[in-house]
Amino acid sequence: MRNILITGGCGFIGSNFVGFWASKYPGDNIVVLDALTYAGNKSNIQHLIEHNKINFVHGDICDLDLVNRLFSQFQIEKVVHFAAESHVDRSIAEPDAFIKTNIVGTHNLLIAAKEHWLGDNDVSEHHFHHISTDEVYGSLAPDGLPFKEIDQYKPNSPYAASKASSDHLVRAYHETYGLQTTISNCSNNYGAFHFPEKLIPLTIANILNNKAIPIYGDGKQIRDWLWVEDHCRGIEQILLNGRHGEVYNIGGNNEWTNIDIVKLICTKLNSQFSSNKTLTDKYPNALNAQNNQSEQLISYVKDRLGHDRRYAIDASKIENELGFKPSISFEEGLTKTILWYLDNPSWWQEL
Ligand SMILES: NC(=O)c1ccc[n+]([C@@H]2O[C@H](COP(=O)([O-])OP(=O)(O)OC[C@H]3O[C@@H](n4cnc5c(N)ncnc54)[C@H](O)[C@@H]3O)[C@@H](O)[C@H]2O)c1
Repeated sequence: MRNILITGGCGFIGSNFVGFWASKYPGDNIVVLDALTYAGNKSNIQHLIEHNKINFVHGDICDLDLVNRLFSQFQIEKVVHFAAESHVDRSIAEPDAFIKTNIVGTHNLLIAAKEHWLGDNDVSEHHFHHISTDEVYGSLAPDGLPFKEIDQYKPNSPYAASKASSDHLVRAYHETYGLQTTISNCSNNYGAFHFPEKLIPLTIANILNNKAIPIYGDGKQIRDWLWVEDHCRGIEQILLNGRHGEVYNIGGNNEWTNIDIVKLICTKLNSQFSSNKTLTDKYPNALNAQNNQSEQLISYVKDRLGHDRRYAIDASKIENELGFKPSISFEEGLTKTILWYLDNPSWWQEL
């Protein structure tokens, strides 16, 4: 049995990971710490809380007393740290919360981990895994080589800069104090429980509500996409077999322009409506989808400030060292995702 603290376990990736880990390792003692910001949704893991599969604590990683108390009370040996402010647009409008949660909050967790694991107790099996992003590497030219773990950090948005800072702190606690840490820098995730301010769920929700689908600039920004459950499997491999002090890039080998993804979602939703007539009753507002015309909703808007043109991940290290590869294709993952949103309107319509 392992005592694991998962921060941000009510967010998109965190709640997928909590569900994944609780079902695969039911003997582990999971504590979820989440501040339930606008992006956190306790209902994502409610069934696990109700069946006593996990402990849920509503609180802030910036509250050092609370974090220390949790380490003592639950004898935490592993941390899987997802909690963050994660939306680039919000970081451009109001960066303060990003500095606080992503930098100060991460540092608090490191302080507590050092105190409880390297102090009098000496918890030899300890492990601090920090979830980060490919955005720390900056923007790639169209012909640039995908990001490797050794590439220079060149964060462009306040979000990316705050994540880069937290990565440096995690590294420093390993190098200076010998804390057993790992970091993963992942590309864009998609799947269930994704907050509908992000490209894929926003596109699905707007088609179902017959609202304009905003596309920044020319829509030709390129991102690499990974199915969230595959991200969870990648993190699992790092937790089980990753080398301490190492960084692992996780990606899907799957580059798409934003506009092509949006068009693909339009096509897929149009065909769902053609083949399943019950959707018309369920989503009476989705007039364009009913008429095979979702693309009509695409609307180009002014580009985001400092919008990075391209991210791409070289995931050969995690593949060669830990044998991790994405398990499903983008086509399959996107279809699963669309079906999840079609089946769970109460989850996203409330938001
Ligand atoms: N979404 C992606 O595509 C992506 C890609 C690469 C890396 N990441 C990283 O993965 C992690 C999770 O991303 P996500 O998309 O699930 O984010 P999210 O915004 O969906 O969820 C963040 C969670 O953290 C919680 N939280 C925020 N501030 C907190 C605080 N001060 N104390 C405690 N909890 C707090 C929120 O309530 C929420 O539940 C982040 O660290 C993000 O940088 C995300």
